[in-house]
Amino acid sequence: MSPAEFDGYFHDRASRFAAFYRSEGLSRLIGRGPLFDRLRASVDIVAGLGATHVLDVGCGSGPLFAPLAARGVRTTGIDPAPAMVALARIEANKHPEMVTVQERGWEAIDEEDAYDVAVALGVFDYVDEPAVLLGAMGRAAPHVVASFPAPGLRLQLRRVRYGARGVHVHGYRPEDLRALAAGTGLVVAELRPLDRAGYLAHFARAGG
Ligand SMILES: C[S@@+](CC[C@H](N)C(=O)[O-])C[C@H]1O[C@@H](n2cnc3c(N)ncnc32)[C@H](O)[C@@H]1O
Repeated sequence: MSPAEFDGYFHDRASRFAAFYRSEGLSRLIGRGPLFDRLRASVDIVAGLGATHVLDVGCGSGPLFAPLAARGVRTTGIDPAPAMVALARIEANKHPEMVTVQERGWEAIDEEDAYDVAVALGVFDYVDEPAVLLGAMGRAAPHVVASFPAPGLRLQLRRVRYGARGVHVHGYRPEDLRALAAGTGLVVAELRPLDRAGYLAHFARAGG
């Protein structure tokens, strides 16, 4: 899938996607609970690492901004979809001095050791070149936290749903994540299952 299709999909659905964060109870009822689980697990890992500056790749409407700001962690959120960036900027304004939002895709990450942790939630699902993205994140920060859908029925159903709109969805097994890490100079430091939705992976630099 070309980046344009992935960007366009979420640009068109920015408000609809952001609405899942309005009510955790309602979202859990319709099977979107893992959105909250992966947010909390990421914040937990970031806090445990004592991070002060996070790169949020594909930040969407900015659901990570508030919990990170509450812990004194600054966030730079990047996203190429203008409608998502508009929502992220509204959210960022609630946390003065703590959040910067930039309209750019992961393909433009060229920073080196500029952050403590690079996070990507709900992004690897749609990326055809995961090693390139993971490599860029691993250069930008010594720790990477990212969500990955697991193969299975849930993923098959998503493939049908998104496939109708030209969007690919990729599934990962734990061994795929270890191989992906090894190819980019990282190791899997921790793998947290997200119920049936997949995993939240914490990668660290090999030997680091
Ligand atoms: C499933 S949403 C997740 C948003 C947010 N991380 C969250 O957890 O709510 C995927 C996000 O990735 C963004 N995206 C699309 N193409 C991208 C790219 N090339 N680089 C970075 N983010 C991208 C979309 O615009 C969208 O905001």
